[in-house]
Amino acid sequence: MPSSVAPALFTPLKVGQHTLSHRIVYPPMTRLRGGDNGIPSENDVLYYQQRATKGGLIIAGAAGTSANAGAFPHINNIFTNEQIEAWKKVTAAVHEKEGVIFLQIAHLGRATFSSLLPEGQHVISASDIPIAGVNPMGFPYETPRAMTLDEIKTVTEEFAQAARNAITAGFDGVEIHGANGFLVDQFTNSSSNKRTDHYGGSIENRTRFALEIVDAIAQAIGEDKTALRLSPFSDYQDATDDTPVATWSHITATLEKTHPHLAYLHFIEPRVSLEVDGPADEGSEESLDPILAHWSGPVISSGNYTYDIKTAYAYAEKGPNKLVAFGRAFIANPDLVERVRNHWKLNPYNRATFYTPGPEGYIDYPYYTEDK
Ligand SMILES: Cc1cc2nc3c(=O)[nH]c(=O)nc-3n(C[C@H](O)[C@H](O)[C@H](O)COP(=O)(O)O)c2cc1C
Repeated sequence: MPSSVAPALFTPLKVGQHTLSHRIVYPPMTRLRGGDNGIPSENDVLYYQQRATKGGLIIAGAAGTSANAGAFPHINNIFTNEQIEAWKKVTAAVHEKEGVIFLQIAHLGRATFSSLLPEGQHVISASDIPIAGVNPMGFPYETPRAMTLDEIKTVTEEFAQAARNAITAGFDGVEIHGANGFLVDQFTNSSSNKRTDHYGGSIENRTRFALEIVDAIAQAIGEDKTALRLSPFSDYQDATDDTPVATWSHITATLEKTHPHLAYLHFIEPRVSLEVDGPADEGSEESLDPILAHWSGPVISSGNYTYDIKTAYAYAEKGPNKLVAFGRAFIANPDLVERVRNHWKLNPYNRATFYTPGPEGYIDYPYYTEDK
């Protein structure tokens, strides 16, 4: 390739109403640095400001859609006026640097605990099947109650209201958390959904909840401000599917017809394991390609580019609609975009401070200096 041709990773791409100037995305990462009552802190403002770039996409969150969404303490939510007001400082800081910022919105479903819910509320899910084993803190998961049809409507409306709140808070759009075994994904996967009504059983039925939430949010804030995150091959939090290619192809093919102007679809690559450090398992036979064949809008690929920048450059070359998210590398490198552009060495991340309170491992990672 002649050196005068810019690599695709550093060429513009339209996402919703915004023309991004490069394809490197900050993906949603829960860091538990918020204040009390789900309110973003001053450190949150600084963290996102450090990582914002002109024409670069940041996806903040995940933010709980309502008090019943079961978000953990120090997650920043998006259902009270105080939360909306505090998020305005984050969005203003990113916009000041001419960046674009979406908010991932989530309901935890069976991944939460009744002690984190308002008095008298149960843990809910598609079916009454608990996550096997214990959570990272060693607590056994509770057996959820299968949601009623009325609850499905209510939760869908809570997603739409959270999306309206996000726009009020200055976000450029929202990403529905449909991945990693949280509530939406609990409906989609065959292992966690044994319903016998029109939200369970067939692929059409299991994907109905995800697709209805997309409909509701697109109607509330506009299709081009709406996005969806999916992880077809993940077994995180015990959510697995018998026929992932067919299930998620149904989602992509349906959205191509019903919402072709969504801002983007965001996919977690099959090779990634969040608990494992080190290069990806490239031996995996699984591929997103047959699922992505049904979708022509912008696509973000996430998973293990942290360990191989060459793969990120190569992925962007695969098509005019491709973006690449760097998760753990973006935690450790506030100036990641410049480091990738210039092939500078990356700071290593410190897993021990992913979720600890305070500034350490959050806003104190160094910027690149020539003498490093
Ligand atoms: C500390 C941490 C928190 C995360 N929180 C979320 C989250 O809230 N929502 C989500 O969809 N993914 C979450 N992820 C997954 C990342 O968005 C990303 O997909 C993953 O880290 C793989 O990318 P990487 O290999 O570049 O790190 C989290 C990852 C990390 C490391």
